[in-house]
Amino acid sequence: MADSPSLNPFELRKENIDKFIEASTNHIIRREEDMIGFFKEAADTGKLIYDVYEIEGPHSTDMGLTIMKPGKVGREYHMTKGHFHESGSADEYYFCLSGKGLILLQSAEGELRHMPLDEGGGVYVPPGWAHRTVNVGNDDFILLAIFPKDAGHDYGTIKEKGFGAMVVEVDGKYAIVDNPN
Ligand SMILES: [Fe+2]
Repeated sequence: MADSPSLNPFELRKENIDKFIEASTNHIIRREEDMIGFFKEAADTGKLIYDVYEIEGPHSTDMGLTIMKPGKVGREYHMTKGHFHESGSADEYYFCLSGKGLILLQSAEGELRHMPLDEGGGVYVPPGWAHRTVNVGNDDFILLAIFPKDAGHDYGTIKEKGFGAMVVEVDGKYAIVDNPN
């Protein structure tokens, strides 16, 4: 682990996210076609929705930096796939470095919450709550997430059942509406 970049203390600000990207050990790219089954109207357009750069920590936590492009697919604002953690004890912290968005949270029992997540703000995601972030602004939405190494990501449940709410444009503004499915 001596060469792990995360062994060195570092400061993260929106102005120096390139340092985080340089130190990252994993890069996930989600284009519109990767989101078929998540957005109602996703198609094979090649459009970039978001990138995630991950740094594997040397001890108990990993970090992810999500950079989400502004825009919509059909009526839905750009969003992450969303997931439950496979580990029943895994929680997560999100901090917004730049942009304007929301986080949707849903418990295994189907209880739904949403919170604004914009620059200077953070959110705690307790164990057992699925989470999805949504860019409702006009600029990149940039988030830092910190989560336990053993969290694991279950995307299948969300793909199959969806969230109980969708974030769509209504009269030029975002609205959180029931998912008819
Ligand atoms: Fe997570």
